[in-house]
Amino acid sequence: MATNENVITARGLRKSYGKIEVLKGIDLTVQKGTMLALLGPNGAGKTTTVRILSTLLKHDDGEVLINGYDVSRDADKVRSVIGLTGQSAAVDELLTGRENLVMMGRLYRLTARSAKARADELLAEFDLVDAADRTVKTYSGGMRRRLDLAVSLIASPPIIFLDEPTTGLDPRSRIAMWDIIKKLMSAGTTILLTTQYLEEADQLADRIVVIDGGKVIAEGTATELKAKVGKDRLELVFKKTSDYKAAVKHLGGEVVDTNDKEQSLALIINDTNKDVRRVLDTIASKNISVESMAVHKPTLDDVFLSLTGKQKQTTEEEA
Ligand SMILES: Nc1ncnc2c1ncn2[C@@H]1O[C@H](COP(=O)(O)OP(=O)(O)O)[C@@H](O)[C@H]1O
Ligand SMILES: [Mg+2]
Repeated sequence: MATNENVITARGLRKSYGKIEVLKGIDLTVQKGTMLALLGPNGAGKTTTVRILSTLLKHDDGEVLINGYDVSRDADKVRSVIGLTGQSAAVDELLTGRENLVMMGRLYRLTARSAKARADELLAEFDLVDAADRTVKTYSGGMRRRLDLAVSLIASPPIIFLDEPTTGLDPRSRIAMWDIIKKLMSAGTTILLTTQYLEEADQLADRIVVIDGGKVIAEGTATELKAKVGKDRLELVFKKTSDYKAAVKHLGGEVVDTNDKEQSLALIINDTNKDVRRVLDTIASKNISVESMAVHKPTLDDVFLSLTGKQKQTTEEEA
């Protein structure tokens, strides 16, 4: 990450389908060797954005530069530096995993020998060796996603677009995909990933752009976004109501009864170190007995809710 060079730049991106404007002026940049997560609910405009950035769809207004190439004027050059993985399945169900990779390699004009070698390399890297010679229609969802990503990497592109790579995967396959994505990141690939999962953006991305209704509604690092919405909470649990009451009386500040049973409370705090020390001192000096105590930082869920007014999307849809 030696340079600050933006390898992906979109300015004022607009797109309408008929009379409906689905992108209303999107701005985003991605620095070389970093990952940007484009985070937003269903219908926010993520796929539309990615399809424009990867030359598959024309925009109505605005400018897109990929590695310095304009997507409208230099589409071929753009295509030569990107890989795209997404909801549009690039793999052929009737071929085996290996055949898909070799075929794509040949399309990218690798020699038969190097296409085969590259396929072997990717099959190993994506944990598909055992399944390599089975037709794709026998693959699980997680295996298909991995193959789809492997196919998009056949020509070792320096920039990749991952459109919801883990949506609908079970938690284990999701973690496996995250590991693969982390490997790509450590190899220096520039990545634009779209997701509806806050946790995914939080775990993987260097920066996050939140979109909703075709507009950017927030951007920053996960930490910056969290800092915007809220303060830390210090939560205390008591065995006895008398201890709870003593704590409320002596702690001062903004106290919330967290279970309506006078057994646990949350204290909104500004300066975690200072406030925790103060609370501990008070508890000791007033002989208050505390069962447990924890500091909770705001999560991206809180950010999302406060920005969009929409309920968070959880990763536990399978549960
Ligand atoms: N081909 C299309 N024709 C008409 N409307 C579309 C088309 N593709 C997407 N849309 C609409 O554009 C909006 C954004 O879609 P999309 O970019 O797929 O969102 P996301 O990927 O964030 O779920 C949605 O309201 C969707 O219904
Ligand atoms: Mg989409």
